[in-house]
Amino acid sequence: MFCNILIVSSLLAVVHAQQVGTFQPENHPPVTWQRCTSKDNCTTNQRSIALDANWRWLHQTGSYSNCYSGNTWDTSYCNTNIDCAQRCALEGADYQNTYGISTSGSQVRLNYVTDHANGRNVGSRVYMMESDTHYEIYKLLNQEFTFTVDVSELPCGLNGALYLVAMDVDGGIANGTSNSAGARYGTGYCDAQCPRDVKFIKGLANIEGWQLSPNNSMSGAGNHGSCCAELDIWESNSMAQVLTAHPCDTPTNTMCTGDACGGPHSSNRDAGPCDPNGCDFNPYRVGNASFYGPPNKILDSSLPFTVVTQFITNDGTSNGTLTEIRRFYVQRGITDAQPSASLNGLSGNTINSEFCIAENTLFQGPDNFARHGGLAKVSEAMAQGMVLVMSIWDDWFTHMLWLDSAFPPQEDAKKPGVGRGECSRLSGDPQQLQTSNPNAYVAFSDIKVGPINSTFNNESVQTWPASINPGILVVLQLP
Ligand SMILES: *[C@@H]1O[C@H](CO)[C@@H](O)[C@H](O)[C@H]1NC(C)=O
Ligand SMILES: *[C@@H]1O[C@H](CO)[C@@H](O)[C@H](O)[C@H]1NC(C)=O
Ligand SMILES: *[C@@H]1O[C@H](CO)[C@@H](O)[C@H](O)[C@H]1NC(C)=O
Ligand SMILES: *[C@@H]1O[C@H](CO)[C@@H](O)[C@H](O)[C@H]1NC(C)=O
Ligand SMILES: *[C@@H]1O[C@H](CO)[C@@H](O)[C@H](O)[C@H]1NC(C)=O
Ligand SMILES: *[C@@H]1O[C@H](CO)[C@@H](O)[C@H](O)[C@H]1NC(C)=O
Ligand SMILES: *[C@@H]1O[C@H](CO)[C@@H](O)[C@H](O)[C@H]1NC(C)=O
Repeated sequence: MFCNILIVSSLLAVVHAQQVGTFQPENHPPVTWQRCTSKDNCTTNQRSIALDANWRWLHQTGSYSNCYSGNTWDTSYCNTNIDCAQRCALEGADYQNTYGISTSGSQVRLNYVTDHANGRNVGSRVYMMESDTHYEIYKLLNQEFTFTVDVSELPCGLNGALYLVAMDVDGGIANGTSNSAGARYGTGYCDAQCPRDVKFIKGLANIEGWQLSPNNSMSGAGNHGSCCAELDIWESNSMAQVLTAHPCDTPTNTMCTGDACGGPHSSNRDAGPCDPNGCDFNPYRVGNASFYGPPNKILDSSLPFTVVTQFITNDGTSNGTLTEIRRFYVQRGITDAQPSASLNGLSGNTINSEFCIAENTLFQGPDNFARHGGLAKVSEAMAQGMVLVMSIWDDWFTHMLWLDSAFPPQEDAKKPGVGRGECSRLSGDPQQLQTSNPNAYVAFSDIKVGPINSTFNNESVQTWPASINPGILVVLQLP
């Protein structure tokens, strides 16, 4: 993500710790997904999701006293990274009542704001589990990943995201002697922003150097960041959507220190071991303002639709290297190809090396993508397998303008790459959103993984520009 800021719950004790608390049982909500071998031949996996550790109540082991509350560590109890990791406990989660997270069949629904007995929770981040103690690992080279999404209630400024990161499969237990919570309690998050708001990294707490966020009363940042490769299959709201690949020099989870982390918490955004911006495909940004949005666009975000993402390799096998990321959408039984970029100097409807180079040149980017290894490095992470994340978040740093408005704010919106969606530059203030849209949510369902073209109807794909689609007209004419 461009700015992956934790939206921490403002429980009296928000949390995170590396030991395990025993006050609230941890029951992962069940969910299914399917592995397909060909069309109409899919097997269903009974799985579950786990809430990220940063959202959990973090308290002193064996006591109700907080280790961390709001955005502050209790330094009178522990004040070093080792000490806090050993003496603070992560608590189980009441998914529905405290965090607004629910599942049903193959669906995961994440609510934006949840008021509960102890305060208010904002946003969440969950992981697909393979077992009670290990994350599901997805290996998607020469495969496609398909899901259905409902973003109809996600306004400007919010982000409903489904993406992959190269986290440790056990949440980092094997790496850190002080981590006994692990994947079961959602530890080990990392991404290409090298986020420094993560409270435990590689078995260590992140209390040393912890500073409160200047804008967000519920978040802070420590001296350590948690880096790994990130493949943002889907970041979206009802106004804009983007597909982004972010390589890192080392694809797996590494810990960085201070400004060398780069990303949003450091003085130089581009100084880290990963590419925080990535190579991205947002149809609006690359020239098509009429493709996506509510309700008078080709892909109507006021209704659910299915998103297909294909990871093509150089040799057409899962042993090959990622060369191309393709995208299709299915809505009302009609399959649309990703529209083509139509800017002077940028064309094509897939992410490949040529596209990424042309995009960086035209948009005058910092060239982080190539510098950190490009698609080949993303491919390395994919070959090892990545963890599936679903989240809903708001953005205290840039109000999500990088996704759905004109960004950077001071630039001319007509300059190539600046316009990303139709949202106002004044939209996306989290404080306002929490008041105006507390009932916002995102719902993901029907996840399917299989060989290329095995999980959707790939016959008679609409490519654009195309003649007017009668199916769409019929629906638009309804009262
Ligand atoms: C369906 O997939 C299973 C493997 O999951 C395979 O054994 C079987 O042959 C497939 N059936 C058809 C009709 O393709
Ligand atoms: C960390 O643990 C993972 C398994 O979760 C393992 O693959 C990796 O090699 C370990 N790394 C280090 C530095 O110990
Ligand atoms: C990938 O390589 C391994 C080891 O060389 C081989 O056993 C396997 O059959 C290959 N898989 C594919 C899909 O080519
Ligand atoms: C967040 O706070 C920093 C430091 O005070 C400020 O520079 C920045 O503009 C603020 N960002 C937003 C979106 O309010
Ligand atoms: C998948 O289907 C598309 C048409 O939707 C076609 O262009 C492509 O060649 C197919 N790929 C494979 C590997 O069959
Ligand atoms: C759809 O995908 C199948 C399986 O890859 C392929 O055989 C077929 O040619 C594709 N259809 C079209 C129209 O490309
Ligand atoms: C955008 O896509 C629509 C349909 O998706 C198409 O009709 C239109 O020509 C495209 N516009 C541009 C500028 O490419």
